[in-house]
Amino acid sequence: MAALLNDSDIVERIFSHIDNKTTDLGDKVWREPVSNYLSEDRFNAELELLKRTPVPFCPTVALPENGSYIARKAAGTPLVVVRGDDGVVRAFINSCRHRGMQVANDSGCARAFVCPYHAWTYGLDGHLKHIPGKDGFPDLDPKEHGLVEVSALEQGGLVYVNQKGPINSQALENIPDFFTSEQQYFKQVGFTDEANWKLLAETSMEGYHIKSLHKKSFYPYGLDNVTVVETFGPNSRITFPFRRIDKLRDIKSDERRIDGLVTTVYQLFPNAQVSILSKHSSLVILEPISATRTQHVVYQVTNKGSGGVKISVEQAERDASFVKDSGLDEDRAAACAIQESLPSEANSHLTFGRFEKAIVHFHQSLTEQLAL
Ligand code: FES
Ligand SMILES: [Fe+2]
Repeated sequence: MAALLNDSDIVERIFSHIDNKTTDLGDKVWREPVSNYLSEDRFNAELELLKRTPVPFCPTVALPENGSYIARKAAGTPLVVVRGDDGVVRAFINSCRHRGMQVANDSGCARAFVCPYHAWTYGLDGHLKHIPGKDGFPDLDPKEHGLVEVSALEQGGLVYVNQKGPINSQALENIPDFFTSEQQYFKQVGFTDEANWKLLAETSMEGYHIKSLHKKSFYPYGLDNVTVVETFGPNSRITFPFRRIDKLRDIKSDERRIDGLVTTVYQLFPNAQVSILSKHSSLVILEPISATRTQHVVYQVTNKGSGGVKISVEQAERDASFVKDSGLDEDRAAACAIQESLPSEANSHLTFGRFEKAIVHFHQSLTEQLAL
């Protein structure tokens, strides 16, 4: 498990920052070459890294029963991830072994995958069950023509996949648990932005822009440039306090609970983020389409609630639309505006300072991993 601060330590640190007009600081300034947001070679190297790294695919509650599946691209590869008849989650390359058609589409619940092209049929464990007109393929061994499996693992409320290597709980030992089965999956949202995936990721990793970029949206509720930044492995956790956290000052330190009083963002290296908001949480995957285009794949679940009070889907949906209006759209627009300016060569590098510690950690980790 990651050695992350508990609630009362986080609150202590936030109060100390508020009282002293300080924030968590990194120890260095990072200059990231602008070419890394534009270059095709760099993009392809990053895609290869995504394929050989265990990355979150979806919350486990998004695959609630045997036969539940989600089909989507991950690092450019069409995958289908399905809970089998035995309850185990498996991941396959979504490519029929006849002529490559995708056998599953979007999400749903299936007893088997029937290819829409010529109806070759696969079991939920990937094996080839049926070929219409088998006589047309006299020498074909069905055992050799199951869907191609890639590694998948459920841990701490997320399904992880690794397309080019094994995945085991050791590889994820630093990653905390996020979601439980009490939380309800209520929506998948998808949208595309004309920006490099890293520019979009960077928007959620610092609180230095709260007052200027989110002046009328988030700043009335949240504090500017007051964040707690922790790193674990190549990942980080950034805690953004709401102004209403002040009400904890009268509560004994070990009884303080921060649910609903902060936004917590877990940056899961490289391209996923889990955000714990007031009444809902989201898993965001930044799926790179090209060096200058990114699809956001967002899975939303209700929060657990406290004191036995369950949070309804309606409350969670209201919370999600507040988040969209209170800054997410502004962050996305900023990333796209930055992308437009980059080819001008006004900047040879983007500069990340000591307030932007989590971003520095991200780029440092990415540079290291790409060099392996
Ligand atoms: S491509 Fe799937 S059955 Fe032909
Ligand atoms: Fe923002």
